[in-house]
Amino acid sequence: MSDIRFDDRVVIVTGAGNGLGKSHALEFAKRGAKVIVNDLGGSATGEGESKGAADMVVDEIQAAGGEAVANYESVTDGDKIVQSAMDNFGRIDVVINNAGILRDKSFNKMTDQDWDLVYEVHVKGAYKVTHAAWPHLRDNEYGRVIVTASAAGIYGNFGQANYSMAKLGLHGFSQTLALEGKKYNILVNAIAPVAGSRMTETILPPPLIEQLKPQYVTPLVVKLCDENSTETGGLFEVGAGWVGKLRWERAKGVGFNISDGLSAEAIAKSWDQICDFTDADHPGNTQEAMTQMMQNLQNK
Ligand SMILES: NC(=O)c1ccc[n+]([C@@H]2O[C@H](COP(=O)([O-])OP(=O)(O)OC[C@H]3O[C@@H](n4cnc5c(N)ncnc54)[C@H](O)[C@@H]3O)[C@@H](O)[C@H]2O)c1
Repeated sequence: MSDIRFDDRVVIVTGAGNGLGKSHALEFAKRGAKVIVNDLGGSATGEGESKGAADMVVDEIQAAGGEAVANYESVTDGDKIVQSAMDNFGRIDVVINNAGILRDKSFNKMTDQDWDLVYEVHVKGAYKVTHAAWPHLRDNEYGRVIVTASAAGIYGNFGQANYSMAKLGLHGFSQTLALEGKKYNILVNAIAPVAGSRMTETILPPPLIEQLKPQYVTPLVVKLCDENSTETGGLFEVGAGWVGKLRWERAKGVGFNISDGLSAEAIAKSWDQICDFTDADHPGNTQEAMTQMMQNLQNK
């Protein structure tokens, strides 16, 4: 199998000053890409800003003979990040939505600001960057987009109601972009990574932080952005050198006779069957998801 290369490709990596984003940026540059290293340079909870984080990554790329430009905008001004890619390199091929912050608090103590900031950076930020890049990707009939979801969104995590909302929201966002992008050869996938970073250093013990290298996540991102890839609309859990794809699973369910309406008591009576995953279905789109409902209408 030949090496995956990104020569002449322009890659935007948001939040590329630290952790996962830094690892992605270095790897894309190593593989020949011109990289926009975006980072606002604030704290892990979204306060302040500085140029240092992005500059250090650009220095590292350039010292290794690669090509990169720093960008210090917030992802909430995603159009400016995209403009920087156009101004410096004249095109965009790959968008890695990675920037993130945490404002962890139990739901009872969560403030509007905690909710809004997490939404702004993760969801609005990914929207703004991708939305500004989208016309360029469509024009080129080529694009690879990654959004960074999280196990917290998939499974929930104590103290992360805001973050869980944002992270699974990004998966939904990627599902629709995958549908809309397909005919333009724009592939959109979501990753739910686990890695040692300043974001996880308050949660995980130091020896584990050391072992969970961001470099075990980046290869999946590179593979998904390969120009020969056909994968789109996927959601992958990845970390510690392990990678697996997720999908929705739905119980066979129960179709009720609705000629006389449907009662809560009838649902209660069939509850075990409604929740029984034996021979479960795996609907892949809304049409497939609706099939049994439509059949039930016909059986009326
Ligand atoms: N580390 C993990 O285990 C893990 C797990 C699940 C999801 N994630 C997600 O992966 C992504 C990267 O996380 P990380 O662990 O590398 O964290 P990190 O804190 O090391 O890196 C995040 C980077 O994003 C930058 N950033 C924050 N707000 C920004 C903004 N408004 N505009 C531009 N840049 C901004 C920060 O300055 C920082 O450099 C995040 O989206 C995070 O939610 C990480």
